[in-house]
Amino acid sequence: MKKQEVTLSENIREDLDRALTRRGHDKLFVLTDEHTARLCLPLVLGSGGLAEATEIHIGADDTHKTLQTLADVWTALSRQGATRHSLLVNLGGGMVTDLGGFAAATFKRGIGYVNIPTTLLAMVDAAVGGKTGINFNGLKNEIGAFAPASHVIIHTEFLRTLSHREFLSGYAEMLKHGLISDTAHWAELLNFDVGRVDYSALRPMVGRSVEVKRRVVEQDPLERGIRKALNLGHTVGHAFESLALASQQPVPHGYAVAWGMVCELYLSHLLTGFPRQKMRQTIQFVKENYGTFAFDCQQYDTLYDYMTHDKKNASAGSVNFTLLAEVGDIRVDQTAGKELIFQALDFYRECMGI
Ligand code: GLY
Repeated sequence: MKKQEVTLSENIREDLDRALTRRGHDKLFVLTDEHTARLCLPLVLGSGGLAEATEIHIGADDTHKTLQTLADVWTALSRQGATRHSLLVNLGGGMVTDLGGFAAATFKRGIGYVNIPTTLLAMVDAAVGGKTGINFNGLKNEIGAFAPASHVIIHTEFLRTLSHREFLSGYAEMLKHGLISDTAHWAELLNFDVGRVDYSALRPMVGRSVEVKRRVVEQDPLERGIRKALNLGHTVGHAFESLALASQQPVPHGYAVAWGMVCELYLSHLLTGFPRQKMRQTIQFVKENYGTFAFDCQQYDTLYDYMTHDKKNASAGSVNFTLLAEVGDIRVDQTAGKELIFQALDFYRECMGI
């Protein structure tokens, strides 16, 4: 897979102009959703390179991450005369960078694209690493391709317009990066005041977080081995997300990951010896900032079914997890059976007070 150039930007217009010059193109397109077009596009439009760009707007949020929206983007590219040498700039959250990335990967067998993520979740996760795609038949990211952006430009000033909920959702992925990297990064994340965000202190932390992801992806772009480290918290987290969605009470992705990490750190403690004190410290942070996801033991079987139905997790009679033996000591392809998983759900309810 081609390498991505990731820039932690101080001057978004200059960095974008540099990326556009380096990439080269005939026609230029910029894809945004209706919120980003209002809040973020004005901040980049002053870039000389973007002056000639054709704007393509799509609806905001995950409900628009569909085949129809993808077809709308292909249609816009085609009608406006995009060629194999055209370039697409995706400006937005994970929905825009995932869908725009897939549109670019498939239009005329692939055109170049640049990601400018505007949410914390997209900056530290979705926009980096080349996973692109759409939801299909009710399944998240069912259709997609590995196709990296040539450049990812991260400008943390965009985060100032983010809601607290969206901020925390992205912060959970940062916490995950802390857990899979090193104790100093993990500790700075736990000590950061997420209630009163100091954006100048946040900026280098975002840089370190993106670097964790970039390093992992560079070693294993197609998720055959160590990239599975990025799934920490996601096996149980996706099951919580699906249960919440089925009860018409959707929860932000990062919240589900934070709650999933509570269970998976407990499994890490039991199976791979993750230290109890660090598990407790992390859980305390999650409890204080993310609240709890409530369920009862009648729903354990449903949660277990969600875990086994996810192809990525399934193995005969058990579920695959990425666990930790220590902060930064990753153990992929660990398995746990139903009994142990139910024990982890009991632990979650007990320590989260439900
Ligand atoms: N979001 C996990 C990954 O990019 O592999």
